[in-house]
Parts: sequence; C-alpha cells; structure tokens
Amino acid sequence: MGWKTLDDMDLNGKRVLVRVDINVPLLEGVVTDSTRIRRIAPTVRDILAAGGRPILLAHFGRPSGERRENLSLKQLIPTLERAFETRVRFAADCVGEGAKEAASTLQPGEVLLLENTRFHATETKNDPDLAAAMAELGDIYCNDAFSAAHRAHSSTEALARLLPACAGRLMQAELQALESALGAPNRPVTAVVGGAKVSTKLELLGNLVEKVDYLIIGGGMANTFLVAKGLSVGISLAERLMKDTAAQIMAKAEKTGCKIILPSDIVVTEKFESHAPHQVLPADQCPDNGMILDAGPESLKVINDIFEQSKTLIWNGPLGAFEFEPFDAATNAAALKAAALARAGRLTAVAGGGDTVAALNASGAAGDFTYISTAGGAFLEWMEGKTLPGVAALSRHE
Ligand code: 3PG
Ligand code: MG
Repeated sequence: MGWKTLDDMDLNGKRVLVRVDINVPLLEGVVTDSTRIRRIAPTVRDILAAGGRPILLAHFGRPSGERRENLSLKQLIPTLERAFETRVRFAADCVGEGAKEAASTLQPGEVLLLENTRFHATETKNDPDLAAAMAELGDIYCNDAFSAAHRAHSSTEALARLLPACAGRLMQAELQALESALGAPNRPVTAVVGGAKVSTKLELLGNLVEKVDYLIIGGGMANTFLVAKGLSVGISLAERLMKDTAAQIMAKAEKTGCKIILPSDIVVTEKFESHAPHQVLPADQCPDNGMILDAGPESLKVINDIFEQSKTLIWNGPLGAFEFEPFDAATNAAALKAAALARAGRLTAVAGGGDTVAALNASGAAGDFTYISTAGGAFLEWMEGKTLPGVAALSRHE
C-alpha cells in the first residue's frame, strides 16, 4: 500500500484539502445520478468528526481553462448539502484571495467547496505553481478521487507532494477492492470484459490473460475474436482489422493457461433496435445479413458454471447490446448469477466502468456485488496494470 489514511493524520483544527471526483451527470442543472457524491460523504463526515475543516477541490466536465457557467460546481451545492447533512459554502475560484478568505472563515461543521479546478488551463498540465496556490489553502491533502487518479493534474498529483498527504475513505475502499480482485485474488479468478471494441481494451486484455484463470469476452469485441477464429459474423459490429491482434491475445492466453471464453451461441437480428425479431443460432452459423446483439442461453450456461467455480470476479463491459431489450438478457442473467454468489459469500465480485455500472444497476444486480467502483477510465487503467499518478503521488509522500 504505502499510503496514509485519515486515521494516520491529526485533523483537529486543520484545513483539509480534499480532492474529490464529483463529476456527476447533470440534466438541466439537476444531478441525475448522485452516486459519486454519496460515496465521498464518509470522508467528509470523518474529517468533520475529527475536528477538521474539509475544503473540497474538484473538476467538472472539460472546460479547458474557460470559465463556463454550465460547468460551475455551484450547481452541486444542494446535492452536496443533502449528502453531507451540513452547510456547504462556496468560493468562486479554487485559488486566490477569495478562496483564502473563505477557507479561513469556515466554521466548525461546515464544508467549503472550491470552484472547478479546470477553469484554470494549467490544472490539466500538472502545473506546480497552480498546485502551490492550492496548497496555501490547506494544512493537509486528502485524495478521495480514485476515479480521477489516472490524471496527473495539479490537484491530483503535484499538490500531493506539497502537503502531508493521505487517502480518503473512498480511495481506500477502491484500492482495497481492486487489490483483492487482481492484486492477490483468491483463485480461480474470472474476468468479464465486454463492450464494443477490442481496440479500446487491447492493453486490458493483454494484461488480464496474464492474471486471470478465465477471461469471458462479450459484446461487440467478441465478434472480432470470432472473426479471428475464422467464423463469419454477418453484418455485426466487428473490427476486422484487429483480427490478428485478437489471434495474438488468444495465443498468449494459450501460453499463460488463461482460458478465453467466447459465445458458443448467439442472438441474431437484422436491425439494431429494441425488440427487433431475433433468433438464437450456434456461433458458427451467423447468416450473411445477421447482426449479433447478445450471447445465447448455451453461452450463459457456460458463464454461470465458470462463476460457480470462481472465487473472484472482475467485470468490465456488458455482454450484449444491453441498452436494447431483450438484448440485455445475457448481461442481466450473468450479473444476477454473480450477485447471488456474492450474496452467498461464495464469490468476491467487483465491477467498474461507466457502462458496466449502468448495466448492473439496470439488472438489479449491483446491490449484491461485493464492490462497485465509481471509476470509469481509472478502473480500466488499473485493470490494464498501469500505475495511476494520483495513487503513486500518495505513496511517495513521507
Ligand atoms: C470521470 O468522470 O471519468 C473522471 O471524473 C475523469 O474525468 P476526465 O475523463 O474528464 O478526466
Ligand atoms: Mg472519463
């Protein structure tokens, strides 16, 4: 581990600069999914309980250095106040005199929210001067933004070197969950990787075949593997130019002893839409005008059997076109199976990635998973075996 937690810090009377990820979806000014906000509440509450003064630093969207009202963090105040059950004050800039004044007049029990760090163009350049200006506002740095830890930015990386630094509760939970899934997992360990394209998950697949016992591939990317095996996939989404790469991944898996599971039967339609007429066919019988939108019941049986034998599961990406009924069937059924095994204490089931969490929520399985990451890109990079700069900066700190 090598990083400190809030328990290692003396917080009483201290201004604690907390880097959070509250990059939540907004529709006409209203937060449509407050998960990320609710998940940082324990950190804020623990700092307040220890007599500390939480000062939140966060980005919102990608304003590229422009001050844009529709990307102001001010809009999130009501949701933050509900989650923290306390008053949230606001400073219209994340550095400077106004922010200093707000930080020094913060009352016990209150939280200060600083404006979008990305209103400064230098934030995303990991600029040390911007980090130094931020450091003036606090005595301690606490990073609770695992989902932004793949970015080396002033507020996630440079700042961690300027103040005594620690991980927040959510950061701790994310790192522990991921460590138990891929770092030192109970075996057998199974990964489910789905989604549209092999090209976006190449490094991920390459890393996983070295680490997991079973690699279940679903979604559009499974089609590319079927093509690599010489099968026809009709008019299905497939990256035909990636077929040699898919073949190399299969060859590597052969060497490492990782078993790759592709669909043995497929749900085929002619149209990419909900309730399109469809049929179940063996994977080697996709018609020329057929489009594969889901894995079939035989495949699902194989997947369920593997889940039964597994001790650990890590899941990223849906198995089919889950946004269209009934092509969410394999994803839903497999997710519910994993959830039941997790609930029974037989499986450590961890999932992450934007689409994945949406799919698991839709299936009703999310609540029984052992851990659901709040991260999209950071979860993927972690699964790829990369060092996340935001985490590394915490570990380096004395
Ligand atoms: C996310 O929403 O995935 C994180 O907040 C990171 O945002 P970014 O991709 O704009 O850096
Ligand atoms: Mg992102």
